[in-house]
Amino acid sequence: MFKKVTVIGAGNVGATAAQRLAEKELCDVVLIDIIEGVPQGKALDLTEAAPIEKHDAHLTGANSYEVSQDSDIIIITAGIPRKPGMSRDDLISTNAGIMKKVTQAVVKLSPNAVLIIVSNPLDAMCHVALEASGFPKNRVIGMAGVLDSARFRAFIAMELNVSIENTHAFVLGGHGDTMVPLPRYSTVAGIPITELLSQDKIDALVKRTANGGAEIVSLLKTGSAYYAPASAAVEMAESILKDKKKILPCAAYLQGEYGFHDLFIGVPVKLGAGGVEEIIQIKLTAQEQAALKKSADAVRELKEVLKKLP
Ligand SMILES: NC(=O)c1ccc[n+]([C@@H]2O[C@H](COP(=O)([O-])OP(=O)(O)OC[C@H]3O[C@@H](n4cnc5c(N)ncnc54)[C@H](O)[C@@H]3O)[C@@H](O)[C@H]2O)c1
Repeated sequence: MFKKVTVIGAGNVGATAAQRLAEKELCDVVLIDIIEGVPQGKALDLTEAAPIEKHDAHLTGANSYEVSQDSDIIIITAGIPRKPGMSRDDLISTNAGIMKKVTQAVVKLSPNAVLIIVSNPLDAMCHVALEASGFPKNRVIGMAGVLDSARFRAFIAMELNVSIENTHAFVLGGHGDTMVPLPRYSTVAGIPITELLSQDKIDALVKRTANGGAEIVSLLKTGSAYYAPASAAVEMAESILKDKKKILPCAAYLQGEYGFHDLFIGVPVKLGAGGVEEIIQIKLTAQEQAALKKSADAVRELKEVLKKLP
């Protein structure tokens, strides 16, 4: 029997994640949305592509939660995306309400699932999901660092004209303007980019990475990025479904690691069947630790905003 992943929100990120999960034949997929017909229509459309894409994953669309019962993973993408000129933080009051409602509904039927949170503002939504689910911290994980690192990798490969397969990159911190790309841990065929690019070039790539989401929003004009975000969520899901124990940068709940307490923040974690199986602590320079603190302060501020919401 295939494993089961429920994707909540059948919009751009959710439907693309469903497509990638099915086409990689990682699991059966349940797609849930509040708009009548949309999850059903997208699931059927993807099912009709299956003979050509050659997979046997089953896709089901629904407006209620019964079909999600006993999911191994739940990916939450429900909520509104930003428009040009908006920051991720502007979405907080609308998306916090949606996140609370969908989390409470879905965890009742899948009490042992791992939650992968995608909706923005990401780190704040992880706090909402942790509280609403009552799950242990290792089973609530935010998707941001994998996407931010993929963007950094894409820009490094473009700059050096090398295969993206040779690139590795690390981006820590919150999913916002204060994210912390780490050039000295970012490599091409094992060589740190600090050996291959001038500081000016690295600074420009770091800036483009931090601004990566806004760059796409300004091009699309309606809605935000979804191909790369869906790929990132699916990479996390794959590591959990196959118990691969990949080390990936994810938003994890820190209780003392890196000097932060009771806060979701992007750090390297080992992702396996149990969700976050280990938080990897790497040595940071004073400058990197200060940048991470700035990022943590921004997440803490949003946590305070959450407390004041009705
Ligand atoms: N973490 C990241 O790196 C990252 C990257 C891209 C997008 N996002 C965020 O992911 C979210 C989704 O983005 P998108 O582009 O797919 O947006 P979208 O508008 O295309 O899709 C969102 C879907 O959520 C549905 N929805 C709303 N309320 C719901 C509810 N109560 N129950 C079920 N479904 C509900 C909507 O009907 C819609 O179909 C946004 O908040 C966006 O900012 C995060």
